[in-house]
Amino acid sequence: MIIAANFKTNHTRKSTKEFIKELDYFLRLHDIDDTVVIFPPNTAYDNFDTDIKLGAQNAYHVEKGSFTGEIGLEQLNEFGIKTILIGHSERRHILGETQELISKKFKFFSKNGFEIIYCIGEPKEIREQGIEAVMEYLWKQFDNIDINYDRLIVAYEPVWAIGTGLTATVTQIDETLNLLRDRIKAPLLYGGSVKVANIKEILTIRNCNGVLVGTASWEIKSFCDMISISKTL
Ligand code: PGA
Repeated sequence: MIIAANFKTNHTRKSTKEFIKELDYFLRLHDIDDTVVIFPPNTAYDNFDTDIKLGAQNAYHVEKGSFTGEIGLEQLNEFGIKTILIGHSERRHILGETQELISKKFKFFSKNGFEIIYCIGEPKEIREQGIEAVMEYLWKQFDNIDINYDRLIVAYEPVWAIGTGLTATVTQIDETLNLLRDRIKAPLLYGGSVKVANIKEILTIRNCNGVLVGTASWEIKSFCDMISISKTL
């Protein structure tokens, strides 16, 4: 299983360091073999003394250059970061990233051998139109994306379930992941208000290979509890 924590705009350099130290201790103590990935804010990147995988929540599709406020490959390389989130709904819907920009990022970071957690998800009004409309919307989010890239992981995250406390039902997740599985060979994650109370039922869905957790991952105890639950499955 893959269990990823997206810190978004939370945690400081200091608190990230403490989090990773505690998490590293927990993973060793319990002999966890799940793949755990942490996406801290950029300011917290460091060369931590751990095997826990660090990922970038976002980066620009350049090695370096004049792109005020962005970071590129050179800055990620400094910390050995080789995993990146691309297409997260907050970048699509709040920061206005278009499919064109997203596909440029995908091309650049895949060319550079990154593991890419590629996020897709439909807004509420599309979900209300039924599964056909949902799938049509989701497939469009694969425009100019190489679905056969060998370091691809796809995260299905319904926009209406992110940070809202609303989780898609097991039936909705199951149906959507099954339909994605028809064309996508890569591991499939679910994200959207995953928490201690629901991670078990989500991880037991047939085509679910892991979770991308936001809110419930920010507190170390809750994140470790989720990993413990995953271990029992
Ligand atoms: P959430 O965020 O768990 O707070 O819903 C998930 C995500 O945005 O990846």
